[in-house]
Amino acid sequence: FNTIDDMDLDGKVVLTRVDLNVPMENGRVTDTTRIDKIVPTVKDIQAKGGIPVLLAHFDRPKGQRVESMSLKQILPALEAALGQPVAFSDELIGGPAKRVVAALKPGDVALMENTRFYEGEEKNDPTFAASIAALGGAFINDAFSAAHRAHASTTGLADLLSAGAGRLMEAELKALDAALGNPHRPVIAVVGGAKVSTKLDLLMNLVEKVDNLAIGGGMANTFLVAKGIEVGKSLAERDMADTARAIMEKAAQTGCTILLPQDIVVAREFRAGAPSETLPVDQCPADAMILDAGPKTVAALGESMELCKTLIWNGPLGAFEIEPFDAATNAAARKAAQLTREGRLISVAGGGDTVAALNKAGVADDFTFISTAGGAFLEWMEGKDLPGVQALKKPGK
Ligand code: 3PG
Repeated sequence: FNTIDDMDLDGKVVLTRVDLNVPMENGRVTDTTRIDKIVPTVKDIQAKGGIPVLLAHFDRPKGQRVESMSLKQILPALEAALGQPVAFSDELIGGPAKRVVAALKPGDVALMENTRFYEGEEKNDPTFAASIAALGGAFINDAFSAAHRAHASTTGLADLLSAGAGRLMEAELKALDAALGNPHRPVIAVVGGAKVSTKLDLLMNLVEKVDNLAIGGGMANTFLVAKGIEVGKSLAERDMADTARAIMEKAAQTGCTILLPQDIVVAREFRAGAPSETLPVDQCPADAMILDAGPKTVAALGESMELCKTLIWNGPLGAFEIEPFDAATNAAARKAAQLTREGRLISVAGGGDTVAALNKAGVADDFTFISTAGGAFLEWMEGKDLPGVQALKKPGK
């Protein structure tokens, strides 16, 4: 597909799809990562003589104008990141939108109101897409993290205008290809999180692609149940035990080694500081729940990482949001960071909880690449085609 380098943007209004779906509290942005990451794209479009007009969704207003979901709230953080004033248009289409865009000069940048205030966005309505396309002369998609949505502003515009990938989209695709598409082997995947049921496609795809698969968090309990190990009051999807067995069987066929907890940290209450004990994996008391993996598990995971060249990580290994049950996640994250710093491991991580956990462990900056995507990262790891990426690859682009 095209990138900014391949496109003639001089003098053109460049409709630029970005992801500004950032966490907010009381009208303030609490994490500017997604905003900071679009700066190179905006600057590079401007350097080529283009005028970036930013399109983005915020939250899920479902086709209604919901003022608490206005992108106007993002403006101060966006201006700070870009170091310049940003024009704002309350409307995305029609006369008012055209007037805001017509007033822009080279060097300027504008932000249009939430694409999801319009019903046509999620329906990928061609008339709506054409109304947006009428504002510009080229389309850049820099929203990898929204690329799993086939919406007017992600796929529709790519069909109507000369289209290409922004810098963040390029970087995300390159990193993910290095991790799963065409990786240095052996590859280890670390998958955690609460439920097998939400990550079934992911696990099924990974056992075909990676050499080692470490399973942690609540979903590991389901695998333990499948192996006939009692897990007491732990979170476990007992009805998914057959599925877990099928995943283990498939792994045996493909030569993928599955790493499950060898020891466990258990407690009687789910709260920070709850009294806990570390036990062998098969000794969970009937009235206790597993809230973290133990040190033997972490050591085995570390040894496996040492033998690998590539790591892909999605999901925490324990109840990382409450101490001390963040210990396994923190220790494994630090090990991955150390191996990456030493040049021995390419480490890629993604997903909201995962990135929060790596930030909490203080090692996110040491990873080779941290994806800005949540759902899109998961779908990509599941081996699915992302419509936003596919749209950029169509012939003639
Ligand atoms: C995200 O936050 O993962 C993306 O912005 C996509 O948001 P959505 O799940 O509401 O489509």
